[in-house]
Amino acid sequence: MSTAENPTPGLRLDVVTIFPEYLEPLRHALLGKAIEQGILSVGVHDLRAWATDVHKSVDDTPYGGGPGMVMKPTVWGPALDDVAAGTGAATRTAELTSSLPHLHKPRHDDLTGSEGIDDGVDKQPGADAGKPLLLVPTPAGKPFTQSDAQEWSKESHIVFACGRYEGIDQRVIDDAANRYRVREVSIGDYVLIGGEVAVLVIAEAVVRLIPGVLGNRRSHEEDSFSDGLLEGPSYTKPRVWRDLEVPEVLFSGNHARVDRWRRDQALKRTRAVRPELLEQVELSGRDREALEGE
Ligand code: ADE
Repeated sequence: MSTAENPTPGLRLDVVTIFPEYLEPLRHALLGKAIEQGILSVGVHDLRAWATDVHKSVDDTPYGGGPGMVMKPTVWGPALDDVAAGTGAATRTAELTSSLPHLHKPRHDDLTGSEGIDDGVDKQPGADAGKPLLLVPTPAGKPFTQSDAQEWSKESHIVFACGRYEGIDQRVIDDAANRYRVREVSIGDYVLIGGEVAVLVIAEAVVRLIPGVLGNRRSHEEDSFSDGLLEGPSYTKPRVWRDLEVPEVLFSGNHARVDRWRRDQALKRTRAVRPELLEQVELSGRDREALEGE
């Protein structure tokens, strides 16, 4: 988090959940490396720390009847207040450390020099000064996209509220808008048991876009969705494998031809698999030719 008191650059993630162990994977691979590098810090908070009764209950029966249980506002409210302010039980709950060995193991595409975490590229003016971003994973939320991931990779403090059962009392979400910028988000049109897996998905998609986390900036400039298209196929050695040959053009040494071929492949794959995406893409005359030439 980057505040007046704490000038450390990078992203602070806080997760409030009744299953803290579910968030363990955040310690591994790229995210663990980002923690080691000081680009990312993660706090995982057990919601039950804010439960007040002897049974530490966090849910209750829904008003109006129906199946399942609803998570209580009297527990979630104080939890989100404390996590926003870094007070109360939020100071006593777990700080995730990296599972390590990554730091001294450079990736093949690590770059040196130009990619510090501190380059300020694309930082939104005033983003640090505002309220933290509260993400509430729910199948009833707005679909999470690559462009959300790009935007949120510029944030300094993101809090995730993981609901379970039939969800969280809606007043928690409404009230949180006093302290947070709130977004209810879905990772797809299916129903998970709770928000924890969605947090892993969103956190990974966001953190890999923070400058310095993924070594090679080009590797996310060419991601599927970055230009509205799905990425085409990739190949590596050997040139012939099980009688299957790598396309000739990739040995031409002609970068313009290779780029054109890759674009054509991306267009064709997108049309075959996700035709609705093509409607949002600005197609050149050459793009149209590639699609019509089939
Ligand atoms: N919680 C349950 N299902 C979900 C989904 N599809 N996306 C985000 N959070 C969820």
